[in-house]
Amino acid sequence: MSLSWRDVNAIYQIYPRSFMDANNDGVGDIRGVIDRLDYIKGQKDSLDIDAIWFSPIFPSPMADMGYDVSDYCDIDPLFGTLDDFKELIEKAHARNINVMIDFVPNHTSDQHEWFKESRKSRKGPYAEYYTWRDPAPGGGPPNNWLSIFGGSAWEYDDGRNQYYLHTFLAAQPDLNWDNPMVRDEMKRVVRFWLDLGIDGIRADAVRWLSKDPKFRNDPLTEIVRKAMDGTEGEYNHYIHKYSRFWKNLFPYLRELTDVVAEYDNRIMIFEDYPDANYSTKEQYLGFYGVNPKVAMPFNFEGVWTDFYADAFRTFITEFQGMLDPDEHTPVYCFGNHDQSRLVSRMGGDEQARLMALLLLSLPGLPTVYYGDELGMPNTPVKQEDIQDLRAFTSGDIDSTRDPERTPMQWQTGQYAGFSKAKPWLPLGESVRHHNVETQQHEADSFLSLYRRLLRMRSRYEILRTGTYEAIGELEADVFSYARWLGDQHIYVALNFGRLDNTVKLPHKGRILCCTHPVDYPEIAEDGTIMLRPFEGVIVECSEHPLKKDLDE
Ligand code: GLC
Repeated sequence: MSLSWRDVNAIYQIYPRSFMDANNDGVGDIRGVIDRLDYIKGQKDSLDIDAIWFSPIFPSPMADMGYDVSDYCDIDPLFGTLDDFKELIEKAHARNINVMIDFVPNHTSDQHEWFKESRKSRKGPYAEYYTWRDPAPGGGPPNNWLSIFGGSAWEYDDGRNQYYLHTFLAAQPDLNWDNPMVRDEMKRVVRFWLDLGIDGIRADAVRWLSKDPKFRNDPLTEIVRKAMDGTEGEYNHYIHKYSRFWKNLFPYLRELTDVVAEYDNRIMIFEDYPDANYSTKEQYLGFYGVNPKVAMPFNFEGVWTDFYADAFRTFITEFQGMLDPDEHTPVYCFGNHDQSRLVSRMGGDEQARLMALLLLSLPGLPTVYYGDELGMPNTPVKQEDIQDLRAFTSGDIDSTRDPERTPMQWQTGQYAGFSKAKPWLPLGESVRHHNVETQQHEADSFLSLYRRLLRMRSRYEILRTGTYEAIGELEADVFSYARWLGDQHIYVALNFGRLDNTVKLPHKGRILCCTHPVDYPEIAEDGTIMLRPFEGVIVECSEHPLKKDLDE
């Protein structure tokens, strides 16, 4: 059975190439996930997370590791078969785990049948499935739009003597969403997977579904910013005013999500990194406005927020302030397959533990990236072992996303229990401590912390759906907030500092969890708690934490 999304404690992102390799070819597969469902939920030792989403598992030449889909309605043999996937859904549902897939609506692989047909001729049923333009009057690309992965977004094709648009790799031509036939195809795909029984969909790179139909040049920006998604370089010299986020984006997403709304208890989560050229409010409320009951955007701000109490407090409080708690579900995401690992980004294990406590005590549907629950850091990948093509096309070898995509670390020993064959990406030194077997029974391990937080989040509805409010003035390095639901109240205090810091509980309470679940700080008679460096606590209050302020 599926769980009601309101009851889901969090979503676990599985990068299928790297989770578990059952057929020992060095690449993870669906059967591997089936074999490890006990790890996810249902046993005494399980992580106990209620939903899983998979990065793409569809047939693909793997130029962008599956984000170049050549058939939307099947499974790549590397990962198994459609029957394997059906079995996975069935077995996951038997454990009350919801299953989500990744849907890539903006582009296909250049090996997709539609594209093969489309590039053959300017006539025919698939001619307008992609964005084709004649060369500029003097020759060359039709305009100055750039690919995020480097160079022009246009690729010349001899067959049609025209250019096609590709926002990502040249092997990922952009679909033409202005063509109603393409939109119908996409709705059919969504229906196919929903009929198969999946509970949700993560929709990839949606910002690019609508572009300026006049194909005007993007203007140069005066201030070169590092993009929110971490990309740098020439791409950020432009304001992407015409090449993305155009006027039909929300209507198109509405059409797509209306299909989701036909089914009971299904959701769609949009991948969208805020664009510095628009206000976050405009963007978030735009995405929430699409189909609020079934669709919501990720909030990725935690990915590029520096490790300071005031920085986290500001973004979370502003974001929560925009939302209507009865209508909008926040989806906080602090890490994924495109971002440096949490431990490496935040500065170390202790900081990452604090992030776990923060993430899992915020409202909505937080997402946990596989391996973060073990505190896996980035794994160094030698230049000759790099698999991520973006590292080459962008001209910046350091932009490789491989270090955060390395195999799940199940145990010590050869290939960390992931496979019997040499894995597609290397394993690093961190296997010694950051592995499931070692952490499984250590009361103070990362895994124990995540497990405890997840179980608490299942038990305490207030943590999932309760209201959020930042408490008091920002003092020193501590970020505190209250959550409440009816007459239940929870208080969270997070010390982002390298020194001890004291907080005073507004009311009496008892600690439910802290960053080191074996070593709780004391609550003094007068309600003060001394937080050690990078320590965080979740406190169940016996009175409303804000009541005092309200009474005064
Ligand atoms: C998304 C994916 C990323 C992929 C890109 C193109 O950002 O998360 O991995 O490369 O879209 O599909």
